[in-house]
Amino acid sequence: MGTNRCKDDRNYYITTPIFYVNAAPHLGHLYSAVIADCLYTYKRLQGFNAKFSTGTDEHGLKIQQAADAAGKDPLSFCTSVSERFELLFRSCNIAYTDYIRTTEQRHQHAVEHFWMVLKNKGLIYKGSYEGWYSMQDESFLTSSQVGNALDSTGKEVKVSLESGHKVEWVKEENYMFRLADFRSQLLDWLRGNPQALQPERFYKQVIHFLQEDLPDLSVSRQRSRLQWGIPVPDDPEQTIYVWLDALVNYLTVAGYPDKHDQWWNAVHHVVGKDILKFHAVYWPSFLLGAGLPLPQTIHVHSHWTVGGKKMSKSLGNVVDPLEQSNRFTIDGIRYFLLRQGVPDSDCDYNNDKVVKLLNAELADSLGGLLNRCTASSLNPAQVYPYFCRELFPSEQIGGFRGRAVAEDYHLLEAVKGLPSVAKQHYESMNVYKALEAIGGCVRQTNGFVQRHKPWKLDRGDSEDQRWLDTIIHVSFECLRMYGTILQPVVPEISDKLLSRLGVLPGERSWAALLFLPSYQGQHCPFVGRPLGPDTGVLFSRLESPNADKGKTKKTKNVIKLT
Ligand code: ME8
Ligand code: MG
Repeated sequence: MGTNRCKDDRNYYITTPIFYVNAAPHLGHLYSAVIADCLYTYKRLQGFNAKFSTGTDEHGLKIQQAADAAGKDPLSFCTSVSERFELLFRSCNIAYTDYIRTTEQRHQHAVEHFWMVLKNKGLIYKGSYEGWYSMQDESFLTSSQVGNALDSTGKEVKVSLESGHKVEWVKEENYMFRLADFRSQLLDWLRGNPQALQPERFYKQVIHFLQEDLPDLSVSRQRSRLQWGIPVPDDPEQTIYVWLDALVNYLTVAGYPDKHDQWWNAVHHVVGKDILKFHAVYWPSFLLGAGLPLPQTIHVHSHWTVGGKKMSKSLGNVVDPLEQSNRFTIDGIRYFLLRQGVPDSDCDYNNDKVVKLLNAELADSLGGLLNRCTASSLNPAQVYPYFCRELFPSEQIGGFRGRAVAEDYHLLEAVKGLPSVAKQHYESMNVYKALEAIGGCVRQTNGFVQRHKPWKLDRGDSEDQRWLDTIIHVSFECLRMYGTILQPVVPEISDKLLSRLGVLPGERSWAALLFLPSYQGQHCPFVGRPLGPDTGVLFSRLESPNADKGKTKKTKNVIKLT
């Protein structure tokens, strides 16, 4: 490993899928963006040089038809919907560094170049495709992936077994990619890099999928059927298949074809399970074919459902994320998505659950703790108080054991271990487990304050006063850890919390997570510092949603909080 390689190890490039512009964004899209944003911010806190891209997928039959239906020319139709995605992401503090639209010139150039590389390597040939196609999924399917179903009028139709979307029989001349050639290389890659596809459930699915026959893939459509797309270089009668076009977006953002190395060696994808096959089978095959490195990780997540059905544009059962963030705040909705969303399994959305969770964990537990410890009744000087080692000794000093009890030591152990627990869960995209661990520590900290009842101490007595300061100091140190670790999840709340504690912007990195240095007799830079002036509540309690209206009402009692 040379020095270049070491330098590369500090780069991190995270992507979301690029979203189709056939309809407005919904909560599921925001979820992918929030996960990627969380990983991005976490890596930056760790000192990585990071890039974060998202954007929109604008070509293909589905978009062509949606634009027709809206009576607009395709490009202005795409622009108007793409802007809604951008607006949503910016409103929700998604800190993307790159926004890509597949209708951009730089992308067309990258796709044409990529195509020619595959073509020149003999991996693309002219053939005749005959088989099933789902326009909703923009996907070719084998007969084993297709089944029967009844449409809304009771007529029997063929559908994709995976997505349930209608398929049609297609027979046409087009270009084929030698996908079959890559089956064993893909298996070798996955078997040699089991962490490349997470969680394990999806890894196993792909391994299983690759054990069956893998037919070559059609990678173009006849121009007569599909005009809205990038023409095949040197063959204006054919349009490049929208998925080949779309997947190359990740390379375009990295600077392909001229200067992509820096980021391409550090790329991580976040995708929903609906597009697993495209990312874990097609994409790595294209990359292998083009002689490019494979993604470091494909993070797969499951779906948000409403009343048990996948939230989707085509079903029309979508939850509007801007409406929800107005109602529950941006951090509220981010927290809910990451606290309740489990990558492994689908999760049902309902407002009642949002209110209960946010009130319990953000308003009462975390907000309550900050409020108690910063109250001017306990801390009239409004400073970060002093820690007394005699009263909370790390080892027996003389014969005096101090005032701390066994549970207090358990609290310190738990909080000290929190950064490494959170690191593990952030990195494996199990953010809910990190939040569970933080929530547990917040409860323990509230227990600590409750146990010692600092408001009952006698401030006229010097030992009582020192103990009071020590209790507050420990609680502040705990809060400082929570505020720092929570930055990737709830940036505004974290900022408010850390500012209130007087923690400066330069003191909020992962490296600053040195817990309670005073306990070991080390210097604590915060002691004696004035608290920040904003005494407002951290998170206001939300009204219970008995005034629920419309589409969310149906799902109100689907899930009870346990
Ligand atoms: O598939 N729950 O775009 P798309 C969670 N353009 N996440 C959801 C979701 C739900 N109910 N619904 C959608 C495409 N998503 C292609 C991608 S990438 C090169 C091209 C999220 O608009 C999830 O990330 O259908 C899913 O994979 C993605 O949106 C699909 O968005
Ligand atoms: Mg979709």
